[in-house]
Amino acid sequence: MEFKYLTLSKDGNVGILTINRPEALNALNRSVLQELDAALDELANDKDVYVIVLTGEGKAFVAGADIAEMKDMTPEEAKEFAETGSRVFRKLETIDKPVIAAVNGYALGGGCELAMACDIIIAGEQAKFGQPEVGLGITPGFGGTQRLPRIVGTKIAKEMIFTGGTITAQEAQRIGLVNKIVPPNTSLQTAIEMAKTIASKGQVAVRNSKRAIDQGIETDIDEGVKVENQLFAKCFESVDQKEGMTAFIEKRKPNFKN
Ligand code: CAA
Repeated sequence: MEFKYLTLSKDGNVGILTINRPEALNALNRSVLQELDAALDELANDKDVYVIVLTGEGKAFVAGADIAEMKDMTPEEAKEFAETGSRVFRKLETIDKPVIAAVNGYALGGGCELAMACDIIIAGEQAKFGQPEVGLGITPGFGGTQRLPRIVGTKIAKEMIFTGGTITAQEAQRIGLVNKIVPPNTSLQTAIEMAKTIASKGQVAVRNSKRAIDQGIETDIDEGVKVENQLFAKCFESVDQKEGMTAFIEKRKPNFKN
């Protein structure tokens, strides 16, 4: 599919998805969400893509949902908009491959929510995070009230959402929102390097690990351990398990087939 607001490229087994609307700091309007939806299907179905890197073109990752487009929405239209964004973000979160967000600049509102729907966040030193929605007279609408407290706890999430304040990459790392901080304008490069490391492992094992973590965290420890036990056993159906362990015994590098 041809995209107006996205670019899709590949580096080995890494799919790189860039939101490309820098004139509006990559703000998410209906068209961008529609394209993201289609691009995620394309990446999900591409057997050569093992890991996805998501980034934004220019000085922002994403500065939020498009305020100009939302301004005159009726409550019904706003509900539909929020449901669309939430569905697309859930598709991103549950895609059967790891997703790394490379956050080069502003990740505000829907942008912070988009980064939180990714598995790992790499931030440039100059990146800024926040949920400024209450300053516009709205709540976060693409999952911010749900994912932020799950990641950083209710106290910090409430402070961030109630005050609408913006935090630095350093503060975001301190509260557990960001995995790694890298020098300015190197977040994409670092994310691709990390993606390649992940892509070099057994992909059945990587995908099953993602499932075990995401399903387990939504349940109690006993159920979570059962999920892990099943997914662990499932790995033994794969050629990669045989290859990974044989390679260890033979003191050589594994040649995974995935
Ligand atoms: N929606 C629409 N347009 C946006 C936008 C947004 N969220 N963020 C930035 N833009 C546009 C600006 O209107 C401006 O366009 P023009 O050049 O045509 O005037 C352009 O992008 C550049 O932005 P600025 O001139 O404002 O850039 P700056 O460097 O001075 O400031 C900023 C950067 C602090 C990020 C500022 O743009 C800003 O505060 N943006 C809005 C952030 C925000 O409130 N996000 C939450 C949106 S609501 C939401 O996301 C709801 C939800 O959860 C679903």
